[in-house]
Parts: sequence; C-alpha cells; structure tokens
Amino acid sequence: MKKIDADITKAATLQGDFYASESYFKATLESVFANNWQFITDDSKLKKERDAYPFQFLGDLLPEPLVLINNNGDINCFSNVCTHRGNILINEPCTIKKHITCGYHGKQFTTCGKFKFMPKTEGMQNFPSAQDDLPEVAVAKWRQFIFSSLAPEFEFEELIMDVEDRVGWMPIENFKYREDLSKNYTVKANWALYCDNYLEGFHLPFIHADLNAVLDFNSYNVETFKYANLQIGIAKDNDICFELPETSIDYGKKIAAYYFWLFPNLMLNFYPWGLSVNIITPISVNETRVQFKSYVWDESKLDSGAGADLDKVELEDEQVVQQVQKKELHLVFTNTVGFHLLWKKECITSIL
Ligand code: FES
Ligand SMILES: [Fe+2]
Repeated sequence: MKKIDADITKAATLQGDFYASESYFKATLESVFANNWQFITDDSKLKKERDAYPFQFLGDLLPEPLVLINNNGDINCFSNVCTHRGNILINEPCTIKKHITCGYHGKQFTTCGKFKFMPKTEGMQNFPSAQDDLPEVAVAKWRQFIFSSLAPEFEFEELIMDVEDRVGWMPIENFKYREDLSKNYTVKANWALYCDNYLEGFHLPFIHADLNAVLDFNSYNVETFKYANLQIGIAKDNDICFELPETSIDYGKKIAAYYFWLFPNLMLNFYPWGLSVNIITPISVNETRVQFKSYVWDESKLDSGAGADLDKVELEDEQVVQQVQKKELHLVFTNTVGFHLLWKKECITSIL
C-alpha cells in the first residue's frame, strides 16, 4: 500500500481496503482515536459543584467508562470504574452528595478521585495505596464544550487555536443548544469515508444543488492548519452572510459558512444562525454514527443561506458515501487534495 507523502503534490490517497478491512479498522481505534481529542458534551450538566456526567469514550468501541466532575468550577475526568471489583460508579448525570460511593461494596472516593473509605478493611496491610484512587484522564474545555483524550499526543490548544483565532469573535458560549434542531444519523459507511467526503468540498455542485445555489463555488476556499482545516463558503449575491467585525481577517468578505474539521472526527460548522457540531463516531468498519448538535445564536436566521436545510444536505452526503462504501473494495483512490493535508500522517502510516 502506498504511504502518505508529506508533499501533497506527490501523495496518493489510501487504497480502498483501508475503508473495508476489519484489521485496519481495529488498529485505527487505538492509533487514531485513543490518542486524540474527542468532543464529549457541553457544560450544561456540569454547572454546579460536584455535578457529574458519565460517558463512554468513543461509544462502545473503546470501552472506557469515564466521568466528568465539576470541582470548584474546574472539570476533571476520571475512570468511572470502581478500583475494587470494577463496578460502574456513576450511571446517570447527577450531583454527587458528598463522596462517590460504589453501589457494590461501598468503597468511597472523593470527587477528586482519591480513595476515601472502604468497609471491612481494618488491619489490611499496604492499604490504601495509589491503586485505590481513580485514574485521571486528560480533559479540556473550550467555551462551553468539553473534550477528553485517553492519551493525548498534543495539547488541546493546538487543536482548537485555529478555530479560536478565526471565529473567536463570536459569542459562542452564549449559543443555546436546541434539542429540537439536533439529530442523529446512522450511515452505512466507514467513518473515514464520511470524513473524506466532508473534506472534499468540491463535490458541492454535483451532490448539493440547493446548497450550491446559495454559495459562490468559484470562491469556495480551503485552508489547512496543523490538526484542523477550514473550508469557507462565500455567499452568492444577496444571500445571508456573517456581519464580520473589523477585527476579523475576513472583514469585507461575504462569508456564508465556516466549516472547520478537527482531527480526527469533529466538524464545527458556523453559520450566521449559530453552530452545528457534527461528531462522527465509528460503530463498525462499515457503519458510523453521525450526531448533529445545533447551538443557536440568532434564531431569525435559521432558515436562510448555507445552514438552512442541514438535514437535506446530510442525506445527500449519506447517499453518495454509502454508494462509494459498497464499491470501495474494488477501488484504488487517486490523489485527492482533501485527505493528505488533513490526516495526521503518523497515525495512518503507523497502521499501514
Ligand atoms: S466493586 Fe466497588 S466496592 Fe466493590
Ligand atoms: Fe457534502
């Protein structure tokens, strides 16, 4: 299999079996997902002292039960597995009364993950030890959003800084989550194929006629960063666009959408109405869960421009991605701009 070349002009993208092979898929979970940052939730369930939010890192694929806890306004992330017999400690979002108490034999931990008490342990030697504490996992917060990584290879700031630099002028922390405008999809395709499709915005005129009608395709632009990339949609004619502040480097342009992709599986799509967070989670080698979470800034703009009908655009994308997935064993993909610039090359080359 051809290796990815750091020089995009020499690179050829991955062969089709990357998207269909069980062994590549399993290797990817460890080498791509465990080491990178995952979007977990917003802070709406973690506002108060000792609020706790349990979750599974990457769904059921990397079975790592974790829990976020508010300690004096800081968010910590701990293993949610009792260090006695492995019982799950916290099953639902809640406010911890005083200590975390295991529901099996009553082992207690502080909200900072430290061992506190265990019944019937009088006289035990070498107890408690550091192994009785809950292991802590890396966590990061950006605006209202919380991210975690099992073994981060780089600082979270390196991932988010390009987003912050570009659209940090927006009052993102005031955007309101809207359950009624959010939706989950199951796509019968490999997660990476779904991401590739997102990254190759030049499918726009072929796949998304309605969206293409409000964007000036000739001005559509792609910028690449260290761990992220940005596609910029420019509004056609008098279609809706951002009212940019003079401090924005885009001031004077008619920006209809900022489409950020953050390695490996997160999309932050900013529209004049607000933000659509897309989380792409593998289920199996050929099945993927796609979560669209809508955070509204200006409701009056919901039905206009590039962000108007996200469901239709998504279904158009799903159709073509599923069609390609059926064929991928027979294909050798040729050079595409999107892929090489956007994957952390060492992740992929370590698998191949
Ligand atoms: S499993 Fe938690 S106290 Fe025994
Ligand atoms: Fe698309």
